[in-house]
Order: sequence, then structure tokens, then C-alpha cells
Amino acid sequence: MIRNTRDAWGSVAKCFHWTVALLVLAQFALGLAAVSWRLSPLKLDLFVWHKSTGVLILVLMVLRMTWRLANPVPDLPDAIAPWERRAAHLGHFLLYAMLFAMPISGWVVNSAANIPFRIFWQVPLPGIVEPDHALARLAARVHLALFIGLSVLLLLHVGAALRHHLLRRNNVLTRMLPQVRGRA
Ligand code: HEM
Ligand code: HEM
Repeated sequence: MIRNTRDAWGSVAKCFHWTVALLVLAQFALGLAAVSWRLSPLKLDLFVWHKSTGVLILVLMVLRMTWRLANPVPDLPDAIAPWERRAAHLGHFLLYAMLFAMPISGWVVNSAANIPFRIFWQVPLPGIVEPDHALARLAARVHLALFIGLSVLLLLHVGAALRHHLLRRNNVLTRMLPQVRGRA
């Protein structure tokens, strides 16, 4: 099943979810490693990997958002209380917002700091703002604050998924997992 239905996520939405999840975790590690590494050719390479992966996440998010708007969104199980539904919708909305804001703020840092950069060493990334040191420092602080916010949100997100599965014993987690042949 490629498209979503009212009860189930389709394979495309699942593939977006888990690909972006893996890339975001790798991106945290790459960003922290690049920032803390001593000045060396490896540090510069870590930054190219970090920024390139970030641009890839942004492109995937644009496609994911488009796919989501063109598909029904599965309803949560009936037993879920209205406040939980609202919390889930707000949490997912914030996750989407953060997954756009993180790469865009990184792009602003890169443009304002006027650092030439080619995505995966190939395609130059155009600037989105004029070079400006004060703006570069501010955007770097925003990028760091967003990282902290996204980390907290992800802890809540994973905690909520595990709560559904282990305590509430509903299908909210399993319906987001890849379909294994033979499993209902
Ligand atoms: C970096 C990691 C992750 C990110 C950025 C992320 C992001 C998201 C987003 C934005 C949604 C909403 C999907 C939509 O409405 O289109 C979602 C749904 C979901 N996520 Fe994650 N997620 C991550 C990791 C995880 C992990 C590790 C788990 C499981 C332990 C998980 C379980 C789920 C489940 C079960 C749903 C579906 C909820 C529903 O059916 O309403 N996610 N995720
Ligand atoms: C989802 C996407 C992204 C995530 C999760 C992410 C995460 C991070 C993290 C964890 C750090 C280290 C902590 C910090 O100092 O802020 C960092 C630093 C940095 N990132 Fe990203 N990033 C993303 C996208 C990007 C993109 C697309 C670019 C540029 C095109 C970028 C450029 C930078 C730069 C220049 C720094 C160093 C900031 C400084 O000097 O303090 N990031 N990022």
C-alpha cells in the first residue's frame, strides 16, 4: 500500500518517517562533532557532511510535506482522549516546524558567515542572506536553541510512542513500522 488510508500509514509516509529520523540522528552527531573537532581538514569535511545532510533533510521535508498534504492522515484509535489527540497534533506540528527551521537556520549561518560551500562537494549552495557577522552569530545561537528544543521534543515523541505500545497497548507504534510479511 503506497498511499495512506484513514486507518494506516502507506509505505511512502513510513519511508519518509524513518529515513528522516535516521538522517536527523546522524545530523546531531555530525553537527556536534564538526563544532567540537580541532581545526583540521577533517573538521572541514565534517562540516561539509553536516551541511550537505542538512540540505538533504530540507529537500526530503518539502517532498514529505507535499505527500502528506496529498494523502489522508490516519485517525488515532477511538480510545484516545481529546487532550491526547490535541497533544499529538501539536507535537507533530512542532516536529515538522523544527525540521524546516533547523536546516533553514543553518543555511542562514552559512550565508551570513559567507562560507563557500558545495553540497556533497558538488553543487554550490546559494546564499539566502547578505554576509553579516552579527547575523551569523545570532543565527548560530538560534540553530543551537532549535537543536535543544528538537531534542526535548524527540524525547517526548519517543516516550509517547513507547507509552502507546507498552502501556496503552494500541497499534499507534506498530502501524508506523515497516510492514513485515506475515504480520497483520
Ligand atoms: C529523529 C527522529 C524522529 C522524527 C524527526 C520523527 C518525526 C515524526 C513526525 C513529524 C511524525 C508525524 C507524521 C505525520 O503526521 O505526517 C511522526 C509520527 C510518528 N512517529 Fe516519529 N519521529 C522520529 C522518531 C521516532 C521514533 C524513534 C519512534 C518510535 C519509537 C517514532 C514513532 C512515531 C509514530 C508511532 C508516529 C505515528 C503517530 C500516529 O500514527 O499518529 N518516531 N514522527
Ligand atoms: C535538520 C537539520 C540540522 C540539524 C538537526 C543540525 C544540527 C546541528 C547541531 C547539533 C550543531 C552543533 C551544535 C551547535 O553549535 O549548534 C550544528 C551546528 C552547525 N550547523 Fe547544523 N543542523 C542542521 C542543518 C544544517 C544546515 C542545512 C546547515 C548549513 C547549510 C548547518 C550549518 C551548521 C553550522 C554552520 C553549525 C556551526 C554553528 C556554530 O558555529 O555555532 N546545519 N547543527
